[in-house]
Amino acid sequence: MNKENTNQSSFGMIGLGTMGSNLLQNIADHGYQCSGYDIDSKKVDTVNNLSNENIHAYSNLKEFVNNLKSPKTVMMLVPAGKIVDSVIEELLEVLEQGDIIIDGGNSHFTDTERRFVDLEQKGYHFVGMGVSGGEEGARKGPSMMPGGDKEAYEAIKPILVKIAAHVNGEPTVAYMGERSAGHFVKMVHNGIEYALMQLISETYEVMKKGLQMEDNEIHDVFKNWNEGRLQSYLIEITRDIFAYKNKGTDHLLLNDIKDEAKAKGTGKWTSQAAMDLTVPVPMIDIAVSMRDLSKFKELRTEASKLYHDSKKYDSKDKMEYIVKLEQAFYFSMISAYSQGMHLLNQANQEFKYDLNLATIAKIWRGGCIIRSAFLEDIYAAYQKNSDLKHLFLDSSIKESLKESLAGIRTVVSDAALQGISVPTYAVALSYFDNVRNEEMPANLIQAQRDFFGSHTYELKGKEGVFHTEWEEPIV
Ligand code: 6PG
Repeated sequence: MNKENTNQSSFGMIGLGTMGSNLLQNIADHGYQCSGYDIDSKKVDTVNNLSNENIHAYSNLKEFVNNLKSPKTVMMLVPAGKIVDSVIEELLEVLEQGDIIIDGGNSHFTDTERRFVDLEQKGYHFVGMGVSGGEEGARKGPSMMPGGDKEAYEAIKPILVKIAAHVNGEPTVAYMGERSAGHFVKMVHNGIEYALMQLISETYEVMKKGLQMEDNEIHDVFKNWNEGRLQSYLIEITRDIFAYKNKGTDHLLLNDIKDEAKAKGTGKWTSQAAMDLTVPVPMIDIAVSMRDLSKFKELRTEASKLYHDSKKYDSKDKMEYIVKLEQAFYFSMISAYSQGMHLLNQANQEFKYDLNLATIAKIWRGGCIIRSAFLEDIYAAYQKNSDLKHLFLDSSIKESLKESLAGIRTVVSDAALQGISVPTYAVALSYFDNVRNEEMPANLIQAQRDFFGSHTYELKGKEGVFHTEWEEPIV
């Protein structure tokens, strides 16, 4: 049942799932009249049954739009893909030129690029906005990454600033840049999220299989880490997962959960985009691959019977080892963020988004899934030097990497020797060792390519491209 709305709304939401409903309640909490629309009348009823005098939900699109103040602002929170296009098509029949359409879903940035150009030509304002923080973030304060039409952003900014999370009094929302910049930044956020989650799961593996620690001991480690320099939302929820038992049971729910991870695809998109831009983000790549491998349960079960030779660590003092593991995690976490920021830096040059990396680090400090204490260091690094090529080149980050290097070398080599899989840690280290490698062995790859395919090579200190008939070597 639609509820009568005597005051027109300042904001309209399409898609009244938990995210949409929570975001509307957040907006309403700040005194705005707002409206919601969904084709599912049950969802409409649920929102109207909240009996929030600032929220009115409709199952009729025309009525929903008619109850919005002009210029009308409509945000879509619907599944990414074709649904977004069909909702836009319906909206164009009921909106007028000059109205604002916001896509708050996890749309692929190339779709946002296309929609932005199309809607601009038709006279509508389009904002592609990444929203992070899950259901709780939507209700209490998400981090938001809007991009596209700047004029439209300025118009909706007062609402966004109020509903965002705040860190040191500053909102976790800012204009990201041109066209699809908002969704590109959100995609990279998710890529980093994948790398950090995989890193945490490998940490669990080391503690459980290598150090043979009990769940309650693992809980204590994450609890401890969350009180230090590793403080972050993902470590915090991991700590809580290691304490969660279903009512009436005496064991962790975690131990009942299948070891096969799902993915909606934003991590894969990040790797694909990075490869297209030829920017290395190997920790994100490996995180995507490991989720994929986790799905091959039957294969893993079969292979585990053939090759079961993992050994526990011969560590006399677990707590001493945890100190090294903490260093290894710190090192790898820095690397994960650095790879993501490097991708943003390169994409910015290629796509001319006009991104500001300091602003991105700033709005990621709260509300979003990858919020962490370390984002303060990233923010500081880019504030000091907005042209920083790579975070590894910042002097204070250099110190952090150097002092945690011993830890990562120990953790990666012990894991390799004992047969414990820590690919994200290993890749974090190898990436570092090659970023600081002035002479990579890529000269050999050049020679091989020229050998079998006459692809030519370039020479040190000499302009031009060269080819050799390698079959007749002069030794
Ligand atoms: C966020 C999250 C969110 C994402 C989920 C699930 O920032 O709030 O990144 O956007 O959709 O975390 O992602 P996967 O299904 O790909 O793991």
